[in-house]
Amino acid sequence: MLIVRAAGRAYDDSAPMSQRAQIKKALWLPLVIGGALAAAGGAAQKRAPTFSEDVLPVLAKRCQACHSPGEVAPMPLLTYEQTRPWAKAIRESVLSGQMPPWFAEPGVGRQFSNDRSLTRQEIDALVGWADAGAPRGGTAAAPRPPRPTGSWRLGEPDLIYEMAEYQVPASGTIEYTYYIIPTEFKEDRWVTAAELKVGASPLVHHINAFIREPGNKRFLRGYPARTYFVPAGQGELGGGDLPADDPASLGGPNGGVFGEILAPYEPGFFPSPWAPGRAKLIKAGSDIVVQVHYTANGTAAADRTQLGLTFAKEPPRERVLTWAPANAKFVIPPGAASHRVDYAVTVMKDLKLLSMQPHMHLRGKSFEYRVVHPGGAAEVLLRVPRYDFNWQLNYYLSEPLPLAPGARLEFTAHYDNSAKNPWNPDPTATVKWGDQSWEEMMIGFIEVAFDARLDANSVIHRMPAGGR
Ligand code: HEC
Repeated sequence: MLIVRAAGRAYDDSAPMSQRAQIKKALWLPLVIGGALAAAGGAAQKRAPTFSEDVLPVLAKRCQACHSPGEVAPMPLLTYEQTRPWAKAIRESVLSGQMPPWFAEPGVGRQFSNDRSLTRQEIDALVGWADAGAPRGGTAAAPRPPRPTGSWRLGEPDLIYEMAEYQVPASGTIEYTYYIIPTEFKEDRWVTAAELKVGASPLVHHINAFIREPGNKRFLRGYPARTYFVPAGQGELGGGDLPADDPASLGGPNGGVFGEILAPYEPGFFPSPWAPGRAKLIKAGSDIVVQVHYTANGTAAADRTQLGLTFAKEPPRERVLTWAPANAKFVIPPGAASHRVDYAVTVMKDLKLLSMQPHMHLRGKSFEYRVVHPGGAAEVLLRVPRYDFNWQLNYYLSEPLPLAPGARLEFTAHYDNSAKNPWNPDPTATVKWGDQSWEEMMIGFIEVAFDARLDANSVIHRMPAGGR
């Protein structure tokens, strides 16, 4: 394994920003889980649930991926001692639907392999346990954390790029920071895994590693981290055919801003391995551009993020590509409680849809993915009725969905710019596309796989700029 240290140079632009959107803790709207309580206390329950027999298996399956040392959640829930003080909070959080975080509408759309939602029995077990005074039960062996702290989720990579250290200040707005890593690959390389490992995770809002193919003009001027605010009305994002220097294009090979997304990271994001025979392509001479959005949280700290790559042992059958279909041309009027924005792309070659990830900011209210198949049959793929900016979840399809040429992928977002939206930084603002959380975005990320011999620019056709 090769480690390249202090890879890339950090560009930082500390241009002061007059506004600062507080990224608040999530607001959880109660889910109606009818009867959960009644069932827990009801006659069906022969004995009170205990930690060892009933609670621990649920925690292991649904909670410990996050509630373990070094993971995103603030407290581990591995042992009885660790969990006992949280019994009441666990009860509240599962009844309200706050935990585990999962926002796909049940019974609508496709099945997802990373669906963490609880069954009725699992809710009953957790709630019944708390109601019974949180008994220990038998002495269960303390489980091992799901993975050793700080280890790679996708396995030890072949190559690790370690970014230069970045000092995150205690306060203030931090513009996006970029690291540019020249790969110096002499030939095209296929990667079967790409993973970002974050140093100071509480301070990282998101990271995107992009592949910048040779010929992409962005950043050649040492373009600073002032980012790429898209001037209002300047085209949409999302594909290969915009001029490389058009700030409004994002994603797709040579797609402009920095190119294709190699690896994302957000709190709660778990990279999923691509199936055997699938890989992403890093063309010879490409750079990797790592975009980091830090948010100050009152404590200064140093971050040192790593990007790990695993190379294919043989040429893949299918190329994996993450696209960012997006509509950047919306204008959300002041006070609008449910402003709708649409977008769509047409599939040009046989594709398999692997995953979806809606992306909006603090005014994001709901998001839906649909497909209209060539014969006209339409289906909802994913509906997120209550979007939560704090959780940038990726929805991995249990079964990759084949999409034939002519299929149309449709995306619908709603925004709440009213004073009733508690996260709304300013209900009097007219809101357009922008990087910062007080501005908005409308991206329906999709991860697709297709014949590795195809030109990636030929597989998806974007509708004309602006959408609806
Ligand atoms: C995807 C990661 C993730 C999963 C899965 C997850 N949690 Fe959490 N949990 C968090 C994070 C992060 C926080 C702290 C931030 C917050 O409260 O939003 C948290 C907070 C909590 C809290 C504290 C809430 C409070 O009152 O402050 C409880 C209790 C909790 N989780 C229980 C659970 C239980 C029980 C499960 C499984 C059924 C679970 N969590 C699954 C990430 C997760």
